[in-house]
Amino acid sequence: MRKKIVAGNWKMNLSLEEAKTLVSELKVNLDNQSADRVAQNASNLPVVVLFPPYIYLTRILDVFYNYEGVSVGAQNCHQNDQGAFTGEVSASMLRSVGASHVIIGHSERREQFGEDDGLLAEKMRQALKNDLTAVFCCGEKLPERESGKHFQVVSDQLHKGLMWMEEKQLEKVVIAYEPVWAIGTGVTASPDQAQEMHAYIRSLIEDKYGSRAAESMSILYGGSCNAKNARELFSNKDVDGGLIGGASLKPADFFQIIQSF
Ligand code: 13P
Repeated sequence: MRKKIVAGNWKMNLSLEEAKTLVSELKVNLDNQSADRVAQNASNLPVVVLFPPYIYLTRILDVFYNYEGVSVGAQNCHQNDQGAFTGEVSASMLRSVGASHVIIGHSERREQFGEDDGLLAEKMRQALKNDLTAVFCCGEKLPERESGKHFQVVSDQLHKGLMWMEEKQLEKVVIAYEPVWAIGTGVTASPDQAQEMHAYIRSLIEDKYGSRAAESMSILYGGSCNAKNARELFSNKDVDGGLIGGASLKPADFFQIIQSF
């Protein structure tokens, strides 16, 4: 069965003190939730994945060491193992501190740091080589949607970024559909728009890898997903959770999103 996932991408936000407060509040809520769920014998909890800035990674990893249901990852990695790349962090370094996930291909990396499909494929190779789960982001810009090119754009991104892999490698991949026009804008894809694109993405996986791989792939929605709209978005059959930006910085909102299945 595929995993339900709620991931928080903090981007370049929060001081260390603020980050500590955020995770301690989140942990209290998760502890209480676990106790409730055990009492009710319920088990439909999503996996929570936190993506703090690199500099806080080890602190947050310590907080959730051996804590079931919470994983911690990085927002990016370099495409090389090691070497003279001032300011960069490799996938093997992430693995060595205990990170389990990495985001690859976020639209902010594509746009502001000029990361193209070829580079992203290299980063995917590094992530997999180092046994990290890669959260691969795709999504169209507004003019691309308005001109009806959104399916083609997403298909191209997926083919170039990850559909060169073997089926087995897909077990370490999560796809995040993040329409660029919805990121940080307060404009969310409608549940129908999200479901339509997620079903399309799943069909691409099925065409190339078969139904077992398609059915096991977790496909997250990202883009102004919040405590109010998460439940409706997540109720769609091909939406397996969310990659949350702004709302993941507010403990109560993020926790409500976690509970939105
Ligand atoms: P917002 O939730 O702030 O729109 O950001 C989404 C995102 O980019 C997550 O990676």
